[in-house]
Amino acid sequence: MTEAAQFALSGKELEYPVLSGSVGPDVVDIRKLYAQTGAFTYDPGFTSTASCQSKLTYIDGDEGVLLHRGYPIGELAEQSTFMEVCYLLLNGELPDQGELDHFSHTITRHTMVHEQLAQFFRGFRRDAHPMAIMCGVVGALSAFYHDSTDIHDPQQRMIASHRLIAKMPTIAAMAYKYSVGQPFLYPDNSLSYTGNFLRMTFGVPAEPYEVNPAVERAMDRIFILHADHEQNASTSTVRLAGSSGANPFACIAAGIACLWGPAHGGANEAALNMLHEIGTPERIPEFIARAKDKNDPFRLMGFGHRVYKNYDPRATVMQKTVREVFEALNVQDPLFETALRLEELALNDDYFVEKKLFPNVDFYSGVILSAIGFPTSMFTVLFALARTVGWVAQWNEMITDPDQKIGRPRQLYTGPTQRSYVPLTQR
Ligand code: CMC
Repeated sequence: MTEAAQFALSGKELEYPVLSGSVGPDVVDIRKLYAQTGAFTYDPGFTSTASCQSKLTYIDGDEGVLLHRGYPIGELAEQSTFMEVCYLLLNGELPDQGELDHFSHTITRHTMVHEQLAQFFRGFRRDAHPMAIMCGVVGALSAFYHDSTDIHDPQQRMIASHRLIAKMPTIAAMAYKYSVGQPFLYPDNSLSYTGNFLRMTFGVPAEPYEVNPAVERAMDRIFILHADHEQNASTSTVRLAGSSGANPFACIAAGIACLWGPAHGGANEAALNMLHEIGTPERIPEFIARAKDKNDPFRLMGFGHRVYKNYDPRATVMQKTVREVFEALNVQDPLFETALRLEELALNDDYFVEKKLFPNVDFYSGVILSAIGFPTSMFTVLFALARTVGWVAQWNEMITDPDQKIGRPRQLYTGPTQRSYVPLTQR
């Protein structure tokens, strides 16, 4: 604790402790405010509110810094694997070789889903959005894995966490296969986490599938870039759902539902649709003008961020990865040129400069994912797959936090005051 914050309300002088983290802004501890003053704070969108303490991820939005357990995202994306990052987020330290082998083996052993779960898919229309399927099927996991739903047992919590990380690629691939009318593929445990996902998605039982190492590496890096992002909307949803004691599968289903929105995980799909709509670089000024027009709801998708007021460090890695994937697959996509030009024009436009709007992780991810062969409807599913480790790590941290309480925000009530019921005949 550094100093106390002075606060005066209705002639009453109060002091609140100021808490310091290991890095980042101090926070004023106002837990006693309501009991002492009868007043709440008002903070829609939680722009000035820290809802918890966390040791997982740190973001400095002004400097464009993202650290997982202290390690910069650029270094992790460049030098580690998604399995290592999962271990790091869950356990706090990078694994040594033995720990990594053991962890990867454990995850691999949980990749199959209960055979009966496959029947759930038939209940969905073929044209169902795969995120709709993900919400339903992941929520249904709690009906299959009763032996890992006791949230007070650390062993069960860890098994549920491993199951979720392991089964998410299988379920995501099944959602894709269902939409294209192809048979589901069982996992192949001789492959890496990411290679296995690519095979379950793009392979068919009729012939062997060879994983392209460059695509596998790019996909693995995309998973790393999406693994966690501190208290964003979906993570806060998972924590809030979990704060009532709900089981982990239900909590992650809640996180998936929140992630689906176009202001959050759905932005990668929206960004690519926008690039398609723009079509050629000549039309960019028209769309920039629309984004700046107060009377037009259109926004540049993949631009702007609640926390980053600088270049999103994930977007830097993503832009580099686009070039690698294009080279490995020997493809060229004019949309990438459009995206680069759009970024250049926006970054030199006063509106975007003044509001500190920079490309975020979603701006380039769509271009890579479609080059790999994913339809746009799968983009947010891939985000959910990768973010699952962040959600479960944050959920575990919350359960073991001695300060944890059921999440219960209050409100500024602006509705009618008490009035008497008027019988129907007299209205
Ligand atoms: N295009 C045009 N104007 C924008 C944009 C944009 N993409 N983003 C923000 N603004 C303007 C906005 O109109 C507002 O202007 P004013 O102050 O004149 O009213 C100002 O910038 C601040 O915007 P805000 O909506 O108050 O900021 P926020 O922090 O609540 O919103 C955001 C953050 C990400 C929802 C928003 O920037 C946005 O809608 N971006 C497009 C969607 C997107 O790319 N989302 C992905 C986020 S990164 C992945 C993830 O974490 O899920």
